[in-house]
Amino acid sequence: MVQTDEQLGAQKKASVFNLEGYFKEKKQLVEKALDKSLSIGQPEKIYEAMRYSLLAGGKRLRPILCLATCELIGGTPEMAIPTACALEMIHTMSLIHDDLPAMDNDDYRRGKLTNHKVFGEDIAILAGDGLLAYAFEYAATQTKNVPADRLLQVIARLGRTVGAEGLVGGQVLDLESEGKTNISAETLTFIHTHKTGALLEASVVSGGILAGASPEDIAKLSKYAQNIGLAFQIIDDILDVTATAEQLGKTAGKDLQAQKATYPSLWGLEKSKLQARQLIDEAIAQLTIYEEKAEPLRAIAKFIITRNH
Ligand code: FPP
Ligand code: MG
Repeated sequence: MVQTDEQLGAQKKASVFNLEGYFKEKKQLVEKALDKSLSIGQPEKIYEAMRYSLLAGGKRLRPILCLATCELIGGTPEMAIPTACALEMIHTMSLIHDDLPAMDNDDYRRGKLTNHKVFGEDIAILAGDGLLAYAFEYAATQTKNVPADRLLQVIARLGRTVGAEGLVGGQVLDLESEGKTNISAETLTFIHTHKTGALLEASVVSGGILAGASPEDIAKLSKYAQNIGLAFQIIDDILDVTATAEQLGKTAGKDLQAQKATYPSLWGLEKSKLQARQLIDEAIAQLTIYEEKAEPLRAIAKFIITRNH
């Protein structure tokens, strides 16, 4: 097939963008900001428990998405960093609670003992509560050079994302679906769009709001985020079937063993791959008007579909 100069130019630009370097640079910024965001106070134990999980590493995908979108719309990293930290505090607290014996009862997270294994269940519950409350305080008090109405929108959106319309609602349906083999694709999608999709969407959209995105921008950014969130989950399910334990860094075939409803179990592998591909193509299509400024978001979308672990 003969390609036009324009197509070749676009391909070259895309291949020149160094996502690994971008992630490394942004992650460093986020790690430093998170470390500074929460110092040890009294009683020491609760601050230690909060810091233990907040600083336990991870991809920091949510803060990075927030920073990337803020810059895409013309804002600075300084405008978005307090919200970026708040997003990671919320994500961390949801994982602390998810790992509790009353929920998934997990012993390890990010290669370390889970919060309740180290500090006890009572403190782990409180560490989660502390991080959740602090996320809102931190975004509200530390955000600088952003008009108050934009910040208010971000805070309201974060509240909705965490509550029964978002993470909490998704987690409830996930818990209720455990052990059931007749889950529909609609229920599975509801779980994922609420339990994980909502916070990814809030990460992308809040970066945009802080930078002054228009309603049209917000609509595009929302669609982008919804699509990459769902594609991420579909690929996760596919990898559980197709990747080796070595590639995953955790046990493969876990979903099958636990008889969990997954996209491959509902649609088969081929249809699952096709759906993921379509979601990513549609996500990338939302970014056309932003031209090369959207390279980080485009590269993140492509990474989701090509990752093998
Ligand atoms: C991990 O899913 C869990 C989540 C993404 C969020 C769970 C949400 C809650 C516990 C509600 C939190 C409460 C508030 C107030 C926000 P997983 O168990 O499928 O993944 P894993 O294998 O990483 O544990
Ligand atoms: Mg879990």
